[in-house]
Amino acid sequence: MVQSHTQYEGFNSLTYLGVPGHSQSYAALYLRRCATLTIVLIAALSVSGCSGIQSTLDPAGREAKSIADLFWWMTAGAVVIWLAVILLTVYAARTRSEARNQRRDRFLIIGGGAVVPTVVLTVLLVYGLAPIPVLLAPAPEGSLKIIVSGEQWWWRVRYFPPGGEPFELANEIRLPVAEPVQFQLDSPDVIHSFWIPSLAGKIDMIPGRVTYLSLHPTKMGVYRGACAEYCGTSHALMNFYVEVMSKEEFSSWVVQQAQPSQPPAEPTAARGQELFLATGCNACHTVRGTPARGVIGPDLTHVGSRLSLAAGTMPNEPDAFRRWIAHTAEVKPAVNMPSFHMLPPEDQQALAAFLEGLK
Ligand code: CUA
Repeated sequence: MVQSHTQYEGFNSLTYLGVPGHSQSYAALYLRRCATLTIVLIAALSVSGCSGIQSTLDPAGREAKSIADLFWWMTAGAVVIWLAVILLTVYAARTRSEARNQRRDRFLIIGGGAVVPTVVLTVLLVYGLAPIPVLLAPAPEGSLKIIVSGEQWWWRVRYFPPGGEPFELANEIRLPVAEPVQFQLDSPDVIHSFWIPSLAGKIDMIPGRVTYLSLHPTKMGVYRGACAEYCGTSHALMNFYVEVMSKEEFSSWVVQQAQPSQPPAEPTAARGQELFLATGCNACHTVRGTPARGVIGPDLTHVGSRLSLAAGTMPNEPDAFRRWIAHTAEVKPAVNMPSFHMLPPEDQQALAAFLEGLK
């Protein structure tokens, strides 16, 4: 008991600071544990960030691959420069001044402090500039063209398939694998930035200007895109999913998306369609195949078939539709769409059933 009491007494704030005479070993042990924990945490976070559907270090396209390669070469170059500087520092700290040889010191300072960094940085600069013409080159004539507009806080996506009917959707992009794609990007309101980390670098979408991005997806899968430029209250809720599919799957998806919606199959959904037209949803939204022809908000013709709702904010399921309709401002603060919380719950459910049924 006495022993533990003494130990407790010795473990005060001075111990943390390593003040002499206040059991330094405790402080050293504590600091060492903190350092180990920090290194483990940083390593775990770094490794977990190296893969996944939204990682520049897990490329699924030609452009993203060249950016990831550049990142690793830059990291290697930085490690070489860091090692040279640290070795020089250790050498300077450990060698007593009378033991020094001035010529050798000058050689080390100029070599390690100036020549090594200059050579490494010059090589990296040349290596880093080389892919730019390739990254900026447009996709060949006749490639799939997609126009994406960044709007507060969603993505208007228009497809122009070669030889097919153009169509519009929102917050989702599907691409054929191993085919070049040409994106044309713009914005009607503020600056946004179009970024699919797994497929390519980010490009700004600037009001009054058109910017271009070409892509070559190399791996099938679902990836996540995001707006990479602060654009207002709900900037962080402006995301989308990209599905890279086989050419056959992509062709049938294009045919299906170009078609108008099917009439509602069951009574609740049919009542939902009536409400959609009666409560004014049609003033902002288009549902091809119905009288709804609004162009302010997202085209909802096949909204039930999409991978997410509200620009990558919610899963595509009936209750999410109902929450979005009734609590719009809570799901996406400052959005233009009004909340329809005043509608009776059965009407909200009918609207959700209609939208969910738009496959
Ligand atoms: Cu759009 Cu940030």
